[in-house]
Amino acid sequence: MMVNFELNGGEVYVEAPATMTLLDMLRQELGVKSVKKGCEQGECGACTVLVDGYPMTSCIILAPQVEGRHVCTIEGLVDNPLLKELREAFMENGAVQCGFCTPGMLLSAYALLSENRCPTEEEVKTAIEGNICRCTGYVAIIEAILDAAERIAPD
Ligand code: FES
Ligand code: FES
Repeated sequence: MMVNFELNGGEVYVEAPATMTLLDMLRQELGVKSVKKGCEQGECGACTVLVDGYPMTSCIILAPQVEGRHVCTIEGLVDNPLLKELREAFMENGAVQCGFCTPGMLLSAYALLSENRCPTEEEVKTAIEGNICRCTGYVAIIEAILDAAERIAPD
């Protein structure tokens, strides 16, 4: 079936089987490789994308469910100032090792800071609780997100 939605600010039309996941449509049909395939059960967060601004695991959404909606991946935020601060904070705090979880982490953090410019540590933990990282032990990631929040905080 034909699926029509907005991807990173551009309108796309994709011919996809009704049972195809959003994750597979993004990776296989649209070549968006930042969206990672991990557990495929909605448990690891590696496939996180923003749908109408909210982080969602694309492995448990069917492609037709995004008809008419706005889907954003990390590629759509390359020039975004908030994401730039998050990227730099992740690098400076050692929050990236293998990088498999990083796009999903960044999108969850981006969604949090878009709504809440001064989150507490607990709020950061809640925002990324659906994103699993096998490498960093989370401390560096939490510090990076708090660091980015400090950088964007109004004086
Ligand atoms: S691959 Fe989607 S949550 Fe793990
Ligand atoms: S940096 Fe390797 S899984 Fe998070």
